[in-house]
Amino acid sequence: MQQRFSDLIVLLASGINQRRMYFNNHPKVLAICGEFVEKLIFMLGQSEKDEFAFGVFSSKFIHKGKYLVGPSIVGRSLIEFAENMCCGGFIFRQPITPEDLSVFFRLGAEQKDKLSSLEEAKALFVSMGLEGVELRAPFTDKDETSHSNAQSAETGNDEGLEFMASDFAPLMQAYQSLYETVAANNLALNGDNRIDLAQARANGEKLIEVADQGALDVMQFMRYPDFDSYTIGHSVRVAALSVLVAKALGWSRELQNEIATAGLLHDLGKGKVPEDILFKPGLLNDDERRIMESHPALGARVLLSNGETNPIVLSAAWGHHLRDDGGGYPSMPSLFKRSSAASLIHVCDVFEALTAVRPYKKAMCPRKAYEIMIKDKGMFQPRMLAALIRTLGLYPPGSEVLLSDGRRAVVVAKGSAPDRPHVRVTHDEFGEPLARPDQPAIELDQASNLEVDEFLNVGLDAEEPDGVEALTEMV
Ligand SMILES: [Fe+2]
Repeated sequence: MQQRFSDLIVLLASGINQRRMYFNNHPKVLAICGEFVEKLIFMLGQSEKDEFAFGVFSSKFIHKGKYLVGPSIVGRSLIEFAENMCCGGFIFRQPITPEDLSVFFRLGAEQKDKLSSLEEAKALFVSMGLEGVELRAPFTDKDETSHSNAQSAETGNDEGLEFMASDFAPLMQAYQSLYETVAANNLALNGDNRIDLAQARANGEKLIEVADQGALDVMQFMRYPDFDSYTIGHSVRVAALSVLVAKALGWSRELQNEIATAGLLHDLGKGKVPEDILFKPGLLNDDERRIMESHPALGARVLLSNGETNPIVLSAAWGHHLRDDGGGYPSMPSLFKRSSAASLIHVCDVFEALTAVRPYKKAMCPRKAYEIMIKDKGMFQPRMLAALIRTLGLYPPGSEVLLSDGRRAVVVAKGSAPDRPHVRVTHDEFGEPLARPDQPAIELDQASNLEVDEFLNVGLDAEEPDGVEALTEMV
């Protein structure tokens, strides 16, 4: 499959994030260095280009006049690096080696302050021996306008699934502020424990508004790994999923608001779990597991101490690891009954964990995630699990799929049958990208001769999942 331009950007951001978490020659960091160089050589060979270049403008990645929405959401570390270097992006030229990448990641991870000028940054790159990476001059507002114009004149899209910023503007804004709320609250847990509940509520409402506009494209949220702060992205995605299902269930607006807030705050207690346990790639030992499993109670306690009284918000934080058959944690009185709202957040929590990319695991397609969840009888409230599956279908909006005639498409809406979504074709049967005006919309529930052959999202794991026991490790 054609290597995507965006994947390379996300890989660079991941390298910086991994370098922040681990040391310089850690196998994870070295693996990304090698992977990037290999993919870069492959992509340049395919496209017969000799450089890989992308811009950074107003805190977003930009390429050929288009904002790259997904990478901009999850590639904050690389955007910050560009901003600290006072540049408008990076140009990678051949020959570039894994050693060059290692230096790039180290600089990206360690350079926390903004330099005084582009010249200073260029001198720093030269002094570090990074001649294969060039710093672009910053964009100006005028460039921005001409970039937009350039887009309309473009005839093709050779990077696969990327979107005009306008397509996802409400989503991006919402994601950013949701993300910042969760991040700020997490940070507070390492300080004075004062969390901003009003802000979380306001953002919960914003999420509902985005969902009202039909722009809550969940798979766009899940498409890229956010290695450095996956518990934050996770909370935002769980909130988004929960809102979609609550809407489909016809729950009241008020209840939707509470669920959005509860989703955003459900994993708050993880802010108190040490990072070496939170990010540990392998299985936890008994002590580590005990600390990890304390996060629901810790979260609920912090919420209470901040004056939170809403039963849904509190029970979601406390009870999102409780099983429907009474198992799970924390241990609970036998008469305790979970609310449907807390059960809904539990279902969305596990689904998100299975389908998203984590530092230690790849993504899983929704169908496989459903299979695992259905098999674990007693884990979920059946009504809530059924509602999730009904709401998202087998190919949630934003999924990229291969059609049975060889064309590639992106799912825009769920169809009347779970396996027959409405799609927009992005590539012809030869893998050639189609310009936006030439991308046909097909309702697969109306096209009997065509079906989805394969689910193509980034970071998918082709191997079989480890099984149900691994579930609790992931959430
Ligand atoms: Fe949790």
